[in-house]
Amino acid sequence: MSVISSFNTVRRIVHGAGCIEKIGEEIRRCCGSRILVITDPGIKAAGVLDMLARVLEKTGVPASYFSDVEPDPKIEVVERSLEAARAFQPDIIIGLGGGSSLDIAKVTSVLLTNDGPIEKYFGMELVPNPGLPLILIPTTAGTGSEVTSICVLSDTRNHVKKGIVSEHMYARVVLLDPELTAGLPPRITAMTGMDALVHAMESFTGVRATPFTDCLNQEAIRLIASNLRIAFANGANLQARENMLYASCIAGMAFSNTQNGLVHALALAIGGKYHLPHGLLTAFICPWVMEFNMLATPGKFIAIARSFGERTDGLPVMEAARLSVKAVKSLLDDLSISYTLKSYDIHRESFPEIAKATLSAVRLISNNPRTVTEKDVVALLEANYE
Ligand SMILES: [Fe+2]
Repeated sequence: MSVISSFNTVRRIVHGAGCIEKIGEEIRRCCGSRILVITDPGIKAAGVLDMLARVLEKTGVPASYFSDVEPDPKIEVVERSLEAARAFQPDIIIGLGGGSSLDIAKVTSVLLTNDGPIEKYFGMELVPNPGLPLILIPTTAGTGSEVTSICVLSDTRNHVKKGIVSEHMYARVVLLDPELTAGLPPRITAMTGMDALVHAMESFTGVRATPFTDCLNQEAIRLIASNLRIAFANGANLQARENMLYASCIAGMAFSNTQNGLVHALALAIGGKYHLPHGLLTAFICPWVMEFNMLATPGKFIAIARSFGERTDGLPVMEAARLSVKAVKSLLDDLSISYTLKSYDIHRESFPEIAKATLSAVRLISNNPRTVTEKDVVALLEANYE
């Protein structure tokens, strides 16, 4: 039975090596006359912010910089970015960085045109007014945040992560320049690339998948299967970097419309307590959940196995589907990412608490192809402990 659904995404993507040089044209298209750039200290230290600042200087448009976004940003960071914005009075926001910086750029843009407190916007589509025009420039190939309408923030008082989902947070323009990702170290390349793969797989196998998201996700999985090892082994390979940037963006376009699933629900639950990087969490949880979910939609898992080059012809259905897990485990081995829970110093006593938090992520669990209970989650954690 078909359900009534919709597909939304950003209206413009400019891409290709060196495309950051074109930002002046994009600012003019958005009628920008005062720019606030939002980024993080790592991007500043790596010299990537200087690259953007040089191009912005040539445009002659006044710009101010807020570079205090931290990884796993807390709600308090938004208060500081808003302060910086109110002091400078921009009419356009540029986000430069990984998912955290882009998320803070998105939420800052809408909180400048919607009265606080921020708490009233946590949830789905609760932001009434459009924000300032946004230009988003990713410097990692992972989160796909440049094309999603979600911002995830840490609530440190309650040790949980909370999301704002709003169509007003879609960027006006996205710039995909692989040269900005060339300096990423191999470990970050591996973790962020795996996060992109999990986005594509959770969106592809989830109950809210549509023909629009299926075609995007299959292409994203194919690109990651054939480029992540290369980008990890040789970060200077610009073609592999470009393909990974396309893959994470394409997967982001899809999952923004479906949401993710059990891998992300578990990653948020474990991450809320143990503070491991998001990409690492989704990477090591991925094969466990694939095994669990496979019964619900084996055909999708066979398609994933094929995207990884596995030969599935003539095999019984479940045997063919299981090749997808074999392929992902082999990728994780090559990227030196362990998928046993014990490797990450997570204690068995916290399993019930993790299970409870996992089930509370309704936005994610409701897209999972297989029904999940707290007992299932504890069993998954036990089965993959060592
Ligand atoms: Fe993710």
